[in-house]
Amino acid sequence: MKDHLQEARDFEQKYLPSVSPEILPRFHVTAGVGWINDPNGFSVYKGEYHLFFQYYPYATKWGPMHWGHVKTRDFIHWERLPAALAPDEKYDADGCFSGSAIELPDGRHLLMYTGTRNVRRTNGVVNTYQTQCLAVGDGLNYHKYEGNPVLGAADLSEGGSPTDFRDPRIWYDEGRYWAVVGNRPADGSGSILLFESEDAFHWHFCSVLASCHNQYGRMWECPDFFELEEKHVLLTSPQDMTAIGLEFHPGNSTLCLIGTYDREARHLMRENVQAIDYGTDFYAPQTVLTPDGRRVMIAWMQSWESSSCTLKSLPFFGQMTVPRELHVINGRLYQTPVRELLDQRGVRIHYNNVLISGETNLQGIRGRCLDMTVTVRPQSRTNPYRYFRLQLAKDGEHVTVIRHKPENNTIRVDRSRSGFPHDIVNVRDIPISPGRDELKLRIILDRYSLELFINDGEQAASFVIYTPESASSITFSADDAAMIDVEKYDLEV
Ligand code: FRU
Repeated sequence: MKDHLQEARDFEQKYLPSVSPEILPRFHVTAGVGWINDPNGFSVYKGEYHLFFQYYPYATKWGPMHWGHVKTRDFIHWERLPAALAPDEKYDADGCFSGSAIELPDGRHLLMYTGTRNVRRTNGVVNTYQTQCLAVGDGLNYHKYEGNPVLGAADLSEGGSPTDFRDPRIWYDEGRYWAVVGNRPADGSGSILLFESEDAFHWHFCSVLASCHNQYGRMWECPDFFELEEKHVLLTSPQDMTAIGLEFHPGNSTLCLIGTYDREARHLMRENVQAIDYGTDFYAPQTVLTPDGRRVMIAWMQSWESSSCTLKSLPFFGQMTVPRELHVINGRLYQTPVRELLDQRGVRIHYNNVLISGETNLQGIRGRCLDMTVTVRPQSRTNPYRYFRLQLAKDGEHVTVIRHKPENNTIRVDRSRSGFPHDIVNVRDIPISPGRDELKLRIILDRYSLELFINDGEQAASFVIYTPESASSITFSADDAAMIDVEKYDLEV
């Protein structure tokens, strides 16, 4: 077979040096050239954080999946490494799909991924087979395990589909290795299967950790499962979701199940269900446990539905969210940008108790690469506002709008005029918890994104924007009036 990995690495060497940093996001991971989707293999290896991703180097569209590779010490500055995996074996000839990574006790880095193989039948129908495979390496070069695949059709629970069997997430606990893998059981919806192994190389089926029963979408992709503040959390990305109120939007969505892990039955007893992110662009999150005990999540900041809406001027497509620290508070998942982002804060400009009514600019409050917190409250208890509106990435032509309406406990983000020349989903209404005295909005802006963290991370919402950087005004308005505090830092990355 052709050396597809070398080919990808040669391509990177040839084209990456000519990509100007001026067109890249400043601190969000992208490929530089080509397409990326899901984060993969987010792990600590030899004291550094490694991140891999679904990757097709040759075009800004999905193609036979490789694994791209970056690493970091602070989640903000990422070093680009050569591609790590290419589809070059019979069992992964049509793609090295999503997976995870772990450092082995002997110092090797183990990748666990889904090998995808398409078989065309004589009647023209293509059958896809997905199996779980391994590769071991040293943080730079990886070799596929000669015993691949390590999990296949024979290892599925009754009625499980060998076509939709993907995205293994490995971890070590109780003296053994564990992996959760997405599957489609006989009812056609999703389930998360749990497998175990003594040595990370020989695996067997353990249990069905959780099932969809056609309640939250269908196939459940990209599971992650971990303990957090005395609860267990299962993150997954359902396909074919139907909308449920404002909590879940249709299509490829995200789901967080919080509950108690029954270690006897090896089953998650779910107690709370919520979306992970309420924006337009968030999918397939994956977490890492940091040496200082933080659970940090990163996701593909993109929706599948708008993934053909590329900008012709850019040689890359797809980016990751800012890594986020997770907490469970009162049964809900909270997320805040990693604390390392605070070290990037430059000049601070702040205002307290400014009464906002008609459209207002505040001196020094502008910019496109920033970390800004706006706290909004009524002028007085007897004088609530009907709406509060913040406009950013603004010039005569462009604007991204964040609007709070206390009456229906929603925040609306509208990116209809944010540089997209496409008719895509541009507006999201985000449900927020009622009965608060004030609303806190933390806004993280980079070249091509807006990430919004509401009320200390009780809700998060991610949006891709393609507004030119010269559109940097920020304005505030309210009906009839609201009181605000603003604290803004330019991010000096
Ligand atoms: C999710 C996903 C995964 C799969 C990968 C393929 O976005 O569909 O289930 O492994 O993308 O690129």
